[in-house]
Amino acid sequence: MSPFHRHAIHRRKSSILIQPQGQPELPAPAAAAAAAMTLDLNLTNIQGDILIGMKKNKEKFFFFSINDRKIFKQRLKSGAKFITTTTQLVDVNKQPAAMVNVAFSQTGLQAMGFYHFLNDFHFSGGQFREAAELGDPGTDQWVGTFRGKKVHGVFLLASDSTTVIDAEWAAVNQLFGSSITELYTLSAEARPGDQAGHEHFGFLDGISQPAINGFTANPAPGQSIVAPGRVLLGRDGDERMLGRPSWAKDGSFLVFRQLKQLVPEFNKFLRDNPLLLPGLTPEQGSELLGARMVGRWKSGAPVDLAPVFDDPTLAQDPMRNNNFDFSYPGEDLASNQTRCPFSAHIRKTAPRADFRSGNPEHHIVRAGIPYDPEVSTGEAAANATQQDRGLAFVAYQSDIDEGFHTLQQRWANTVEFVHNKTDPTPGFDPIVGANNGQSRFVSGLDPSDPDRDFNLVVDFVQSRGGEYFFSPSISAITDVLTADI
Ligand code: HEM
Repeated sequence: MSPFHRHAIHRRKSSILIQPQGQPELPAPAAAAAAAMTLDLNLTNIQGDILIGMKKNKEKFFFFSINDRKIFKQRLKSGAKFITTTTQLVDVNKQPAAMVNVAFSQTGLQAMGFYHFLNDFHFSGGQFREAAELGDPGTDQWVGTFRGKKVHGVFLLASDSTTVIDAEWAAVNQLFGSSITELYTLSAEARPGDQAGHEHFGFLDGISQPAINGFTANPAPGQSIVAPGRVLLGRDGDERMLGRPSWAKDGSFLVFRQLKQLVPEFNKFLRDNPLLLPGLTPEQGSELLGARMVGRWKSGAPVDLAPVFDDPTLAQDPMRNNNFDFSYPGEDLASNQTRCPFSAHIRKTAPRADFRSGNPEHHIVRAGIPYDPEVSTGEAAANATQQDRGLAFVAYQSDIDEGFHTLQQRWANTVEFVHNKTDPTPGFDPIVGANNGQSRFVSGLDPSDPDRDFNLVVDFVQSRGGEYFFSPSISAITDVLTADI
């Protein structure tokens, strides 16, 4: 019996994926299959987490190193049929008890005997050496496991219950035995009750994802449509494939970052700095400040369409909640910040009309999930974080430089971006922009005085490090990576 054998007593009761109102709908299995046929996308060969971009109910990340190449490869080959595919994850009836996906770092591929250059220098060098480039204050706050290059891979397990995940992990562990060492585990889950789908600051997440041509059957109005090769290597739109080995086709680079969020400190900042527009209470002014920092209200409604008051009905309507591009006829896109600040998180990371038309290249599929507990009453009262919590950030792309790295370094951390604004200089992304631990200025947050700079002395999001991984296709695992070499 395979150690991946599904335990009869550990059954999934609901979908592995959650779908709060306002997030794009899961493609219907038949529609996804039909769309994939037109572009010959083999959804049974693509790991499930890559294209779907929806929130999981519970998820655990198991980071490991490989001790015994030969045994590891034998066991991976025998267990590969249990790696969850896109076809399975997209269909609640076909979903296994727990999703199992696997991805390898550059050193992990080497530990398996593969020294091929995947034509992505961020992946080859690993994330640790890029800490300063990404704006991290150093690596002292990095989780020890991520310091250096010791992580060879990560298993991603997701389900609707932690018991099911743990039972599945016990089976995976039994399969690999001493051929791997579990280095570090991060447990994550959707937040409780009506906060499901919201990240720890309280904002609905996972609303704007690129529609993938050949997979997303019905893109929503305003949704960017990208070629599959922006996410999958070797597909139409992947401009680096010529320099990659053929087995890399249908895989994707997985950027992992453990991003700690200082929630009580963030809330205090909002409380202390309400935007006192006429007609707003201080509480409303604080909500507005948070909304302008993100570019969306906590409900998910975009400030570009709801600039002063939240609009929960708009937030819940996927046909409208992405249908904006910051431009309005008769208004100057280079100077107008009455609706959305240039520095807002969603404008910095997806500049829409501010940037080249359609912006086909700088897209990522985000598959992150909140980790660790809700803010305690003690932490809220003290306005101080005592327990690490945040976002287990996961992003898929075929080119880390054009994807995550551009979004973080060239956009969120670059004060002049978005370029070509007449005045003032936008400043840092107030949510994820980073300045190597030094304070960050942000302009445009106050609609009555867009020149007013806010000086953020606290990083509300702090990096605890991560790694760059490659999530190979199932056939690459069975036919190439596990071959005896
Ligand atoms: C703890 C850290 C983070 C938090 C709290 C956060 C929060 C959010 C929220 C609330 C949204 C709006 C909802 C949505 O459109 O899905 C969003 C969108 C987005 N975020 Fe983040 N995010 C974080 C980290 C990052 C990082 C590190 C990146 C990339 C470097 C990133 C890239 C994006 C992108 C591309 C969008 C979609 C923008 C759009 O298309 O409108 N986020 N994020």
